[in-house]
Amino acid sequence: MKILVVGGAGYIGSHTVYELIRAGHEVVVLDNLATGRRDAVHPDARFYWGDIRNGRDITRVFDIESSAEFKNKPIEVVMHFAAKLIVPESVSQPLAYYENNVEGVRTLLEAMVDRDIKRLVFSSTAAVYGELEGGICREDDLTCPINPYGETKLACEKMIQWVSAAHDMQYCIFRYFNVAGADASLAIGLDKDNLTHIIPLVMQTALGLRDKFYIFGSDYDTPDGTCVRDYIHVTDLAQAHVLGADYLLKTSDSLIANLGSGDGYSVKQVLDAAQGLFEVPFEYAPRRPGDPARLIANTTRVHEMLGWHPQLSLTDILKSDYDFRRKLMQKEV
Ligand SMILES: NC(=O)c1ccc[n+]([C@@H]2O[C@H](COP(=O)([O-])OP(=O)(O)OC[C@H]3O[C@@H](n4cnc5c(N)ncnc54)[C@H](O)[C@@H]3O)[C@@H](O)[C@H]2O)c1
Repeated sequence: MKILVVGGAGYIGSHTVYELIRAGHEVVVLDNLATGRRDAVHPDARFYWGDIRNGRDITRVFDIESSAEFKNKPIEVVMHFAAKLIVPESVSQPLAYYENNVEGVRTLLEAMVDRDIKRLVFSSTAAVYGELEGGICREDDLTCPINPYGETKLACEKMIQWVSAAHDMQYCIFRYFNVAGADASLAIGLDKDNLTHIIPLVMQTALGLRDKFYIFGSDYDTPDGTCVRDYIHVTDLAQAHVLGADYLLKTSDSLIANLGSGDGYSVKQVLDAAQGLFEVPFEYAPRRPGDPARLIANTTRVHEMLGWHPQLSLTDILKSDYDFRRKLMQKEV
């Protein structure tokens, strides 16, 4: 099928484009390259520069892609990854987050309604849950975000559901947990300047690009006192999107599902796993505000509805991120 990936030049979008192409789909990418990279877009995908806050950028792609030039074959599914996602930045610049994330989705939905495109896969986040008692998140649990980033994603989820009801649109909303790792080809990975994710920070330390890795907080109510999170390999996550698009095409239903491994690892356990492979100097530092003790996905729904199970382990995630970062360093020499 023909799929439009908005934000397909970014980290998760570019990996999803690779998996869609491997599964035999025709892929079109729309991205403003605010944080994405043109060279991360698979060479077999058609790229359009554009901003989803501008409806004409979107309808132009819908119209070109359904024209005779492309065999009058319209886009059947839209996948959305085009968002801002740095939590502390969302706290200091909430309006920029509402503008890009919420207005971007509103404009995208308007363009889809206008051109009668009925299927959307949307990237949401575990941040919509906030601080749940016990830390195991089920899709029907209370959503109570504790930062503007999570609020904007929850606002988008609700907008998508209202628009779906009014305009007979199907959606697949995926709530991601901690995404990490790189494509097996090492052609793409998480390649950004100001990294905030734990695993790339550990790997940059292993490669000598940072003096130390800091563990924030050692007095949480967890077995070793450090925060527990659920890690998922970006390729597993991308493959779930391929199944999500198939689900929308083959059924008339919609779905909200967590995407995680279902297993929790503490920051110290992640570090110990990395220490087994590489040397990583580290130090404990005080807690950061707003870090819940535990955040783990209940993944029953995605197993049952899509038959999806992650294939790659924490060690696979660590190794692939390390190999990708080593390759980046070799390119820079
Ligand atoms: N990375 C994670 O661990 C994680 C976790 C949970 C949820 N998510 C969600 O996954 C999605 C993708 O995250 P990512 O890590 O790949 O981020 P990213 O910054 O690497 O990718 C976002 C892409 O969208 C593009 N973009 C942003 N605003 C745009 C706009 N207005 N118009 C057109 N293009 C625009 C950027 O240029 C970039 O290519 C986001 O929606 C994010 O909320 C990510």
